[in-house]
Amino acid sequence: MAENTVRIVQIGCGYWGPNVLRNLVNHSNIELVGVIDTDPQVKNWIKEHYPDIPVQANFDLDLLDHWQAQAVVIATPAHTHYDLAIQVLSSGRHCLVEKPLARTSKECEALIKAASSNGQILMVGHTFLYNSVVRELRRIIKSGDLGEIYYSHAQRLNLGRIRKDIDVAWNLAPHDISILIYLFDNSPVRVAARGVSFIQKQIADVAFLELEFPDGKYALIHVSWLDPQKIRRITIVGSEKMAVYDDVAEKKLTIYDKGVDRMHPENATLGDFDDFGTFQLRLRAGGITIPQINFLEPLKVEVAEFINAISENRPALTDGTNGLLTVRVLEAVSKSMANNGKLIEVLAPL
Ligand SMILES: NC(=O)c1ccc[n+]([C@@H]2O[C@H](COP(=O)([O-])OP(=O)(O)OC[C@H]3O[C@@H](n4cnc5c(N)ncnc54)[C@H](O)[C@@H]3O)[C@@H](O)[C@H]2O)c1
Repeated sequence: MAENTVRIVQIGCGYWGPNVLRNLVNHSNIELVGVIDTDPQVKNWIKEHYPDIPVQANFDLDLLDHWQAQAVVIATPAHTHYDLAIQVLSSGRHCLVEKPLARTSKECEALIKAASSNGQILMVGHTFLYNSVVRELRRIIKSGDLGEIYYSHAQRLNLGRIRKDIDVAWNLAPHDISILIYLFDNSPVRVAARGVSFIQKQIADVAFLELEFPDGKYALIHVSWLDPQKIRRITIVGSEKMAVYDDVAEKKLTIYDKGVDRMHPENATLGDFDDFGTFQLRLRAGGITIPQINFLEPLKVEVAEFINAISENRPALTDGTNGLLTVRVLEAVSKSMANNGKLIEVLAPL
């Protein structure tokens, strides 16, 4: 075993947890020393698939001491994140928490404070920031190839995985919000959102989020767990080109050389054009490019970032502040949804 091996405990191993667990087990600098999950079926599953990993039902700090854990990965439902993470950090251990980091920005701030006062790494599982396609899209946007970014439209739809503890905005939109903050290198300043609940009272199944960014960029996010089709798509419209990231397609990223060019009226005459407005604008529909992307499993990259941040003693790409930014947007979304879609200011970053 490598000298700089980190002893890790995972809490929660339901739907998403097994993916996390596989990547922890496969990392050469990690020793997964135990799993904690309240569901007895998880114990049986782990016994069958990973017989050497001890499993316990209930979290307590003595158990972490007993396993000599240096870090903890939390993959439990969102409403449990804060209570677990604050204990982990306060006990002087590093912590990777699944998204959303916590249920309120106050909780996020308390986690950030606990981590910094103990010199620990706090990281949130915004997995898409470790996705090769998202990273390539960000590189393309930053290169200026799409021109000035006008707006974005994100859809994350499917039938199912209906949650009882949080609504669809808190469950699915953290992905798109964190992706957009990363792609645009900026946080939204205002949001307006509508959510509708059909299956459970007060828990929205479908939500439409409008995000305004400080430089005029606009984004619309549509999330639903009540839709016949699985759609995971983000469209970015720029002044020069447009990009479509389709996470369920084989070719995940497509760049369209499409746009609207302004002609210079001073150098031309009206001629056959119907009116002056038509005369000034010309639609452009050029070629399509599909960038070659060397795809790595995002969770593998995410787990590696956690370990590297610990060993290099530096903030992770998706650190506590990154988690807080997304939670602030989600808080504003909930406030807007409770006020019939009123435009709500997002609290400024720290
Ligand atoms: N990054 C991603 O792409 C992604 C995808 C899916 C889910 N998630 C996140 O992962 C987390 C878990 O989601 P899920 O869909 O796996 O949920 P889940 O309900 O399927 O699994 C959660 C597991 O945690 C266990 N658990 C609950 N409370 C516990 C506690 N206090 N102590 C110990 N165990 C406890 C449950 O028994 C269950 O096995 C959520 O935060 C979710 O948002 C992330």
